Amino acid sequence: MEKAAVKRIGVLTSGGDAPGMNAAIRAVVRTARALDIECVGIRRGYNGLIGSDFFPLDNNDVKGITSRGGTMLFTARSTEFMTDEGLKRAADSCRYMGLEGLITIGGDGTFKGALRLAETGVKVVGIPCTIDNDIACTTYTIGFDTACNTAVDAVDKLGDTMQSHERCSVVEVMGRGAGHLALNVGIATGATITLIPEVDVDFERDVIGCIRAARLAGRTHFTVIVAEGVGEPHAIADRIAASTGIETRVTELGHIQRGGAPLVRDRVVASRMGFRAMMILAEGRGNRVVVMTGDECADIDITEALSMKKDIDRVAHRLMSALTIGFPK
Ligand code: F6P
Repeated sequence: MEKAAVKRIGVLTSGGDAPGMNAAIRAVVRTARALDIECVGIRRGYNGLIGSDFFPLDNNDVKGITSRGGTMLFTARSTEFMTDEGLKRAADSCRYMGLEGLITIGGDGTFKGALRLAETGVKVVGIPCTIDNDIACTTYTIGFDTACNTAVDAVDKLGDTMQSHERCSVVEVMGRGAGHLALNVGIATGATITLIPEVDVDFERDVIGCIRAARLAGRTHFTVIVAEGVGEPHAIADRIAASTGIETRVTELGHIQRGGAPLVRDRVVASRMGFRAMMILAEGRGNRVVVMTGDECADIDITEALSMKKDIDRVAHRLMSALTIGFPK
C-alpha cells in the first residue's frame, strides 16, 4: 500500500460490551502499526474522549486478547457526550490528542455518537459490535454468535431440571427492543414457543395453545423464550401457570449473555472488521460503518447506515413457527 493518509488515530469501545470487542481492538492496532500509524486507546468510550483519557497502543499491548471477553478499553454509555458541551469537549479533545481519525466499536448508540462527532469534522469509522445484532446496515454484529451460544447452553441446562420436575421454564433473553437473539435461541433449543417484540401474538391462542398442543403430543416439560422487549417474564409465567396449571419458573439470563470467550465467528469477524476499519482511515476515507453483507466485509456511509431499519429475519421466524407444535402457520 502507498503511504497511509493518517499518522495517528484513536480507538474506543462504547455502549454494552460484547464478546469480540478485544479481537477488533487488536486488529485495529496491529493493522495500524503495520502501516506505521500511531494508535491510541481511549478509555470508557465517549467519556474518555471528553476527558482525553488515552494511552498509546502498540503491538505488544494487544497480545493475547483475541480470546478474551469484555473490552480492555473499558466501556460506558456517556450521557455527557449527548450534550452540546460534551460533544464540543470531545471534538476539542480529538484535536488535542492529535487524532486524524477515530474508530468507534459498539452498537447503535455508539454510531449515533460517531455521527455527531463526524459533523464536527472528525473522521470516524464505526465497527458494529453488540450481542443484539440489531444494526440494520449489517447482517452480523460482533458478539451475537457467542451470546446465542451462551444463552443456548443455559436453556439446555434449564431443560434438564424442567424435565425432572415437569415444569415450564420462562427464559428472558436480552436484545433490547429486538428479537434476533431470542429467535435464534428459540430455534436452536427447540423451544415450546418463542416470543419476540416484532411479532404480536394472541396469548391464549398462541402461547397457551402451543403449550397445550405440546402436552397433547406427549411433552411433559416446556420452554418459553421471551425476548426482553416483549415484556415482564414473571407476568407471562403467572398467566401460563394460571391457564395450564403447570408449575412455572422464570430465569432472566441477563448479563451472563455478554460475557465469556468469543467463539470463532466473533473472533474472525472482529478481526476482519478491525482490519477494514483501519484500512478505511489509512486510505484517507472516513465517516463509514464497516458491515458484513452475508460473508462479505464492506463499508457504507454512516448517515445512510443510521437511517436504515432492521426487521426480524422473517424466514427464520417462519421456520420457527413451522417447527413449533401448535403455532399458527
Ligand atoms: O445492547 C446490549 C444489551 O445487552 C441489551 O441486550 C440490553 O438491553 C442492554 O444492553 C443492557 O444494558 P446495561 O448493561 O446497561 O444494563
